[in-house]
Amino acid sequence: MEPGGVRFYPGYLDRAQQAALVAAVNAVLAAAPLYTPRLPQSGRPMSVRMSNCGPLGWVSDANGYRYQRTHPETGRPWPPMPAALVVLWDELGRYPHAPEACLVNFYGPAAKMGLHQDRDEEDFAAPVISVSLGDSCLFRVGGTQRRAPTQSFRLGSGDVLVLGGAARLAFHGVDRIYPGTSTLLPQGGRINLTLRRVTHPAAATKHRPAAGNPDHG
Ligand code: SIN
Ligand code: MN
Repeated sequence: MEPGGVRFYPGYLDRAQQAALVAAVNAVLAAAPLYTPRLPQSGRPMSVRMSNCGPLGWVSDANGYRYQRTHPETGRPWPPMPAALVVLWDELGRYPHAPEACLVNFYGPAAKMGLHQDRDEEDFAAPVISVSLGDSCLFRVGGTQRRAPTQSFRLGSGDVLVLGGAARLAFHGVDRIYPGTSTLLPQGGRINLTLRRVTHPAAATKHRPAAGNPDHG
């Protein structure tokens, strides 16, 4: 399943780490509630509800896709990114600058996400790191052309997927949720956390090594 640059870490987070992350995400959602994004042009609601944490958040509405510093409904800045996610980025990212955005996707039993590329960021040298919590899903990943063949596999709670290198712009999506496959979230459903670098790091800091990187702010 590895079209160059897709890295899959099944069970990367143990149950205790998953539970701690859920608590941190719940705190994020208390400050920045899930909202229903709308598709550009059609204005139709997505089935996935979203929020963000970190300095920048990805939003979608009738005007298009973009990153912004504030929640589209509350107008408040996004809450800080939980420390455990920054640690994960440093462990797996192979990229010497801090993540700036963590998209929180919540999938109810019937939610899905169509095949798409993550391409609203400035620096494709940075990977996209995705964490799954709660119910399993059927995930699909292909190549950098929409028509390229795709492969499907299940993502379960605690699994981490990295789209980097040649796969940074791979098409991907979620075809379905498998309700009742996890006891992590008391109400069921699936949370996906997607970590991204959005802006180009300043040229002056470009060659700073990853270890001890003070870029997280
Ligand atoms: C996304 O591409 O934003 C979400 C992917 C996922 O839910 O696994
Ligand atoms: Mn995506």
